[in-house]
Amino acid sequence: KKSENNGSLTTAVPSKEDSSLTGFTAGGNESTVSITVVGASGDLAKKKIFPALFALYYEGCLPKHFTVFGYARSKMTDAELRNMVSKTLTCRIDKRENCSDKMDEFLKRCFYHSGQYDSEENFTELDKKLREHEAGRISNRLFYLSIPPNIFIDVVKCASTSASSANGWTRVIVEKPFGRDSESSAALTRGLKQYLVEDQIFRIDHYLGKELVENLSVLRFSNLVFEPLWSRQYIRNVQLIFSEDFGTEGRGGYFDSYGIIRDIMQNHLLQILALFAMETPVSLDAEDIRNEKVKVLRSMKPLLLENVVVGQYKSHTKGGITYPAYIDDKTVPKDSLTPTFAAAALFIDNARWDGVPFLMKAGKALHTKRAEIRVQFRHVPGNLYKRSFGTDIDRATNELVIRVQPDEAIYLKINNKVPGLGMRLDRSKLNLHYAARYSKEIPDAYERLLLDAIEGERRLFIRSDELDAAWELFTPLLKELEEKKIAPELYPYGSRGPVGAHYLAAKYNVRWG
Ligand code: NDP
Ligand code: BG6
Repeated sequence: KKSENNGSLTTAVPSKEDSSLTGFTAGGNESTVSITVVGASGDLAKKKIFPALFALYYEGCLPKHFTVFGYARSKMTDAELRNMVSKTLTCRIDKRENCSDKMDEFLKRCFYHSGQYDSEENFTELDKKLREHEAGRISNRLFYLSIPPNIFIDVVKCASTSASSANGWTRVIVEKPFGRDSESSAALTRGLKQYLVEDQIFRIDHYLGKELVENLSVLRFSNLVFEPLWSRQYIRNVQLIFSEDFGTEGRGGYFDSYGIIRDIMQNHLLQILALFAMETPVSLDAEDIRNEKVKVLRSMKPLLLENVVVGQYKSHTKGGITYPAYIDDKTVPKDSLTPTFAAAALFIDNARWDGVPFLMKAGKALHTKRAEIRVQFRHVPGNLYKRSFGTDIDRATNELVIRVQPDEAIYLKINNKVPGLGMRLDRSKLNLHYAARYSKEIPDAYERLLLDAIEGERRLFIRSDELDAAWELFTPLLKELEEKKIAPELYPYGSRGPVGAHYLAAKYNVRWG
């Protein structure tokens, strides 16, 4: 097996166990971590990556010796980068808290190098600067590719040949999209693997870093009351819902060549589905978990066009304000058929889940912002109290809701007797409301994922065979939609989405939660 250390394949690779957080390796030599944010001038770097790095620093999670370098073509001095970054940093625990000292300390560790993405010379210059900061310590290097995917390979080539670590590890975090179908994704993987081994590639799906997604396995595997119910025997359907109450404003150019299925379903929702439905892994080891996820993905039935509804938002006026249509975006062609909404019914062809519909729904410009997993249970056989629910027997079934965001919560809808002398039932919630139960702020997904990448923990990153399986499921459908030029059903900005989604659910006796 090739080593993770692409710079010098002969040197031992310090791993998670090498106490990189303390700044010392097992051999006693001090080590350092250099984090290079490639595309530092961009939106994601400003909005998510630098704030997450600061939060980690604030929490004392970064190693003693670390340096952050921004890299992009834009001309900027170190001071200008610091000024740009400082505008998006917030205090970790309480936004009103004054942590300006910590911010100043952090910003002093941030530097900038301007260069082209395909210039080995420019990466050699970066390497020289990194070495100066590493000051002869064992150097571990993390490159975060926060750039459009068409330049991933150029950067990886230059970084691995001219700026990889000579004596520590070199890792690369890759942002989605990982291709737009099976072929382009495989080509991207082949391209990356010309310069990196799989262990060096950290494909990020930030939904896996969300607190309640990570908690899914804890909920299921460490509570006796859930795991025995986790199958077709007790579960009637599972819903995975993503909705945003804003459109693609500002990102229309990117979005139009991807669409909601590639943007949300093929990755974020499918990853949740895999975690939800996998068999018990042998251990919590990254490979054991990812092996189980791959198995579920490969057990999925082909996704049929008749089980999919696509939509696109149209302009809508409400309260005197006119909200734009998707095609009003200047970067979007007027005749675009790109879906901004999709609903799909998926099935897993294995003993545990045979016949259970997994319904996904993802949309932009809907009436609400939320991400949820809803598990609807079957009817109680011979329910003694069914009369109390009249003809609407669905009202009597239990439902477990995992609200990933906003306002994180896990609640179970149960039937309960309304207190009093009569016998009247209602549906009540056993509610674990995070804000009420836990005083500590929930870390942003990027914090967890960056920390994991630094620690060499791969559990929450996508392995290449997982990615292949995910594309295998969606590619035929995407091709069919495009070849047949399926027109999306229009829905008003701010609405609940196309009615077609309700018919799709009704076909499987499901009511969206
Ligand atoms: P940007 O479009 O802001 O690009 C980042 C930087 O890359 C820019 O500042 C620019 O830097 C450089 N760049 C942009 N376009 C090109 C180009 N055509 N050729 C060469 N360089 C270019 O992207 P984001 O920051 O929004 O996103 C970065 C990555 O993360 C992308 O892959 C995106 O799909 C993904 N992503 C983004 C999310 C977000 O919320 N923004 C969410 C999830 C994923 P310069 O000109 O200075 O070199
Ligand atoms: C990104 C998508 O992956 O996730 C965006 O490209 C979407 O379209 C975003 O808005 C949602 O992330 P979050 O964490 O804000 O729910």
